[in-house]
Amino acid sequence: MKKTKLKCFVSATYFLIVFISVVKSSIEEQTDVKRSDFPHGFLFGAATSAYQVEGAFHEDGKSLSNWDVFCHVDGNVVDGSNGEIADDHYHRFMEDIEIMESLGLTAYRFSISWSRVLPRGRLGEINQIGIDFYSKIIDNLLLRGIQPFVSLFHFEFPQELQERFGGWLSPLMREEYVYFAEVCFRSFADRVKYWVTFNEINLYSEFAYEKAMFPPLRCSPPFGDCASGNSDVEPLTVAHNLLLAHGEAAKLYRERFKSKLDGLLGITMSAFMYVPLTADENDKEAANRAMAFNVAWTLDPLVFGDYPPEMRRIHGSELPIFSTEESLMLSKSIDFIGINHYTTLYAKDCIHSTCICNVNDSSCGVGSDRAVRGFVYTSGYRDGVPIGEPTGMSRFFVVPSGMEAMVDYLRERYNNMPMFVTENGYSYPADEDNSLQLHDVGRILFHQSYLAHLARAIRKGADVRGYMVWSLMDNFEWNNGYGIKFGLYEIEQPTLKRTPKLSATWYKDFLSNSTISDATISYNHESGLQSQ
Ligand code: NOJ
Repeated sequence: MKKTKLKCFVSATYFLIVFISVVKSSIEEQTDVKRSDFPHGFLFGAATSAYQVEGAFHEDGKSLSNWDVFCHVDGNVVDGSNGEIADDHYHRFMEDIEIMESLGLTAYRFSISWSRVLPRGRLGEINQIGIDFYSKIIDNLLLRGIQPFVSLFHFEFPQELQERFGGWLSPLMREEYVYFAEVCFRSFADRVKYWVTFNEINLYSEFAYEKAMFPPLRCSPPFGDCASGNSDVEPLTVAHNLLLAHGEAAKLYRERFKSKLDGLLGITMSAFMYVPLTADENDKEAANRAMAFNVAWTLDPLVFGDYPPEMRRIHGSELPIFSTEESLMLSKSIDFIGINHYTTLYAKDCIHSTCICNVNDSSCGVGSDRAVRGFVYTSGYRDGVPIGEPTGMSRFFVVPSGMEAMVDYLRERYNNMPMFVTENGYSYPADEDNSLQLHDVGRILFHQSYLAHLARAIRKGADVRGYMVWSLMDNFEWNNGYGIKFGLYEIEQPTLKRTPKLSATWYKDFLSNSTISDATISYNHESGLQSQ
């Protein structure tokens, strides 16, 4: 009897030791990463976008943008807030650039507000004060050895263009955009080497024209109940116009401006990774389809000159067609792929099984889609269990291996074209006593583990050239207002004082190749990771 007990004790202890070492090694494997794991010259930066940080919404000649107008309608933003003041970066950009320098960043990704430089589009004058504002940012970044990484379109444009043309449903927006791009290239291409034509065409088309979350709030059932719209067709039309606008701007850049600095022009996509919900072949196919309907929707046309065959098969004649000239113009029109990667979701096939998921149906889980695209139902939950640690954003879970899988996918599909991680970040929701915000250990672990997987993808041969944290500082998170916080820096309300979070110190130490002391972060097996 005693012998059996001893045997049980020995095997239980053995099991425990094995279990602890597996957990420990997985933690170490995930978080053990150094700057020197990345190639020489790899850019390490942080990102923001104009509407989310600038404020000064109606100052120095800037006109109202689509977001300025949208935020003024009750119910459009959860906390009723807007970007009128935001982080007041417009007036405090020097302080923010000093912060970037103090962190040791080598790149800063920001966007140019269209309504600040061309308040009325092509119809009006160039707003020189707007141009000067961005010029000062660029000069001051360069003085400190920080590469400006400039996005032209980050979801906002002059409201007047929305009213005049009906926004991106109209092909006429293309000429407006190309003129805006030309003004920016003319003003800054002698100093800016990295250009992003559009931020997240895929997400923008979906949020503005399918799910009615972004202006102009268009959709149709089952995606939502809007005054007007067609969720099946309009996102496709809008993405088509955006892609062609990219192609024309890219052509212009290559013909007239690229030679100034031998610069690179690319695009960023919202890059969710998808994995099959079950081992079933149909779900595997669904995960492939989800990738095609998300990243390849934007990238296939810009690399190969046409939409992914997976989309063509499902949409048939609904999917717009590129003429031969358009296809030639588009193919190979990017020098790099910008990856905005945050999370991985499960994909479930809806061709061979029904996927009607009602928002009130608890089996859908938090973070599920009510309606499906490409006959794929996506969710962060399997049998009620989240795919990774949930975060402040309902559809963003911590799945570090997804970073590696995403880069592997893009490397394979696009013949290892240069890539930059243009956004990667972790959000806490706002908490009442603010206790999580400054001691943001969850954010540190997030970046460490995602970076570790990125380094692995690079070791396997992927041509990734940079990594930007989203975001430099807490800011206006679109429909979520100020409630979701992604920053390395906290912005105190109402003083707008910038305070570094623990993650800012970690990033700084990481960039100087030193490690944050063990006393600062420790792992407690009962309560998880803690700061001291
Ligand atoms: C992607 C968008 O580019 C950015 O504007 C947004 O704040 C982050 N994702 C987080 O949702």
